[in-house]
Amino acid sequence: MRSKITIVGVGNVGASCALWLAKRGIADLMLVDIPAAKTMPVGKGLDLLQAGPIEGYNARVRGNADGSYDGAENSDIVIITGGLPRKPGMSREDLVGANQQVIVDVLDKVLPRSPNAVYIVVTNPLDTMTYLAVKHSGLPKQRVIGQAGILDSARMAAFVAQELEVAVENVQTVVLGGHGDEMVPLTRYSTVFGRPLTEWLAPEKLNAIVERTRKGGGEIVNLLGTSAYYAPGAALAKMAEAVLLDSRLIVPASTYLEGEYGLSDICFGVPVKLGANGVEQIIEYDLTGEEKAMADKSVKIIRETMSALKM
Ligand code: LAC
Repeated sequence: MRSKITIVGVGNVGASCALWLAKRGIADLMLVDIPAAKTMPVGKGLDLLQAGPIEGYNARVRGNADGSYDGAENSDIVIITGGLPRKPGMSREDLVGANQQVIVDVLDKVLPRSPNAVYIVVTNPLDTMTYLAVKHSGLPKQRVIGQAGILDSARMAAFVAQELEVAVENVQTVVLGGHGDEMVPLTRYSTVFGRPLTEWLAPEKLNAIVERTRKGGGEIVNLLGTSAYYAPGAALAKMAEAVLLDSRLIVPASTYLEGEYGLSDICFGVPVKLGANGVEQIIEYDLTGEEKAMADKSVKIIRETMSALKM
């Protein structure tokens, strides 16, 4: 049996994710979007299919027209990218009302078709939309995951590699917390070739990288006039691959907490082990007082955003 990944929303993020996944050749791809997108998913699917002979991948890629979900049945993974992206001057939190409707609508359509899938959400505000997806779907919490920390950690790793002029493979970074400007980059758990970043970089350089990481999404919004998509798409593809191949990859991701890190009834970015069941394990790190204070700030913002949900 070939595996299937359905991507709902094939704007910039969804289409980039489809490209990264098609190149891996690990699953067939079903592309779906809203009725207003008309035949766009069909066109993107066909275009990706035709890149296969050049790139040497065998993924069958298919897109639907007019908002149809036909063919999204029995997906192993459903990736939800749908929703409004940020415009310059907007925070992720500004999107809550409009994107709540999108998540609910998407779940109502796709869940009956793929009740056994692992769901990965990237719609902003990320932690709040992941929470909504957990609650609205009624799925086991392991099977609804928000993509954020892997992207935020990648941004930090890219900045570190650039600053130190080392290969990105030598850099391991850990960014926890909500996917917002109050995210929690853990510098003492971040390393270059096993040595903590705090020993590689002077405090002011390190602080500058932490700040740039926190605002990494906004930096791109200001440059592009819309949200980033290559790196978010790649992050989604990496998570989907870890689930599909049951690889037990540890990444930071937004997951529903029930007491871990002293938090409950919230989706928050923490290290998780990804496998066939989605979140196989939540890994708890000890936080210093300062790190805990940063996490508390991030939690506060998420809870404020969650209070805007109409549930
Ligand atoms: C970003 C968006 C996808 O961080 O939240 O670029």
